[in-house]
Amino acid sequence: PVLVVDFGAQYAQLIARRVREARVYSEIVPHSMPVSEMLAKNPAAIILSGGPASVYAPDAPQFDAGMFDAGVPVFGICYGFQAMAQALGGTVARTGNREYGGTPLHARPEAGVLLRDLPDDLPVWMSHGDCVTEAPAGFTVTAESAGAPVAAFEDLTGRRAGVQFHPEVGHTAHGQEMLTRFLYDIAGIEPTWTPENIIDEQVARIREQVGDKEVICALSGGVDSSVAAALVHKAVGDQLTCVFVDHGLLRAGEAEQVEKDYVAATGIRLKVVDARERFLAALAGVTDPEQKRKIIGREFIRVFEAAAREIVSHGDVEFLVQGTLYPDVVESGGGTGTANIKSHHNVGGLPEDLRFALVEPLRTLFKDEVRALGLQLGLPEAMVWRHPFPGPGLAIRIVGAVDEERLAVLRKADLIARQELSAAGLDRDVWQFPVVLLADVRSVGVQGDGRSYGHPVVLRPVSSEDAMTADWSRLPYDVIARISTRITNEVAEVNRVVLDVTSKPPGTIEWE
Ligand code: XMP
Repeated sequence: PVLVVDFGAQYAQLIARRVREARVYSEIVPHSMPVSEMLAKNPAAIILSGGPASVYAPDAPQFDAGMFDAGVPVFGICYGFQAMAQALGGTVARTGNREYGGTPLHARPEAGVLLRDLPDDLPVWMSHGDCVTEAPAGFTVTAESAGAPVAAFEDLTGRRAGVQFHPEVGHTAHGQEMLTRFLYDIAGIEPTWTPENIIDEQVARIREQVGDKEVICALSGGVDSSVAAALVHKAVGDQLTCVFVDHGLLRAGEAEQVEKDYVAATGIRLKVVDARERFLAALAGVTDPEQKRKIIGREFIRVFEAAAREIVSHGDVEFLVQGTLYPDVVESGGGTGTANIKSHHNVGGLPEDLRFALVEPLRTLFKDEVRALGLQLGLPEAMVWRHPFPGPGLAIRIVGAVDEERLAVLRKADLIARQELSAAGLDRDVWQFPVVLLADVRSVGVQGDGRSYGHPVVLRPVSSEDAMTADWSRLPYDVIARISTRITNEVAEVNRVVLDVTSKPPGTIEWE
């Protein structure tokens, strides 16, 4: 792998993703990892990420300069660039001048490899206080900015390079090309991290882990569980049984998508549990959001557990598939890629006597890679590109008690919003587009010749990177207008459509 050494900035994951986009496998490791451990991973290159503004900062993370003696190609970014310069005998000055944000870079592309064929002047994203004033011996300086006399350097013999700015962010022009030049032309790495290869590798791993044992998986209809199950099925075929609990809270067409399209595309053995009545009965009259979540969680476990017991009683089930992604692994501190398989796990709390080892084929992958695998595995596009959807489903998008009629109303309105968003080609421009039915609110309207007294729906399109923060999407007015007109025309119970223009924080994405 290419190791991305995390110096505590928020950029390490982004760098790791950009390296993967160059079709090179990358892993994030903490800067506290001993160099011997890094080298034991047989790294094709090491990338030192950004971190605090200064190598002189009192909390500046230390690292072992021994990594420069191992003959492994190294690329330093921002803090990593300064740390590298200092460790190799260059000079880092405490200028006190800060450069932050978009900054013009003056490059000498012909002087080296990293910036070759790029423009002489290009905007880059800076975030630093100190700067490198003198490159270490053997390094060629290939760029400068007003606040950084040495803004890029390289040593082709030693296969090392570095930049003061952030090539991984979109604000840096040609940043991806620079990373790619380092990986291919300086470090000499072949781009082999392709969906095909990832699938082959994961299939081999799953076979090794599972052997001839049985596996079960709870399918939600979301991207992660669908792709994880498809991978496991590719690896062990009918040793896998998927359970899809239809809780009746999905959007129009989604249960069918799982039951028909997904099965047709994968050939997976699917056990569908129709639990719609059970969930509706349990939710009857409940209006409190947390109460709704608890009830749905509890019912889900009961239904899944019953289904799992049936499957277990037929065979030798030892494994449970989970769609855990790499960002979750990194954030929970397990980013070192060491075997970290929990001996038992609860799908939100399975009982003790149902113990499974986990199969987590997406543990090393980012969401965009999961989608690429899904496409490569032939899953339906609508499923691969599905927006995130909460487990409790439409129940937390009906403000008020949930019943069959209200679900039907919301499904119609939601379908129209999704259709118009897709027709406008904007699916991938928004993160999520909840449509919310204010079931206990009524307002007066005029429809046809008569007065109406119907319910409002709220459109809540949001843009986000990770759902932790979000902003309301500035959808074109004509798209919003079409959605509004169609909903009030086609959904009799709804006579008003409103747009939620609240960011997160302070609003959450969902209304409940
Ligand atoms: P909020 O509303 O907290 O949502 O801004 C953040 C993200 O989480 C999803 N979400 C849930 N997902 N079970 C889930 O599986 C839940 O109970 C739940 N609540 C919110 C939400 O759709 C958004 O993507």
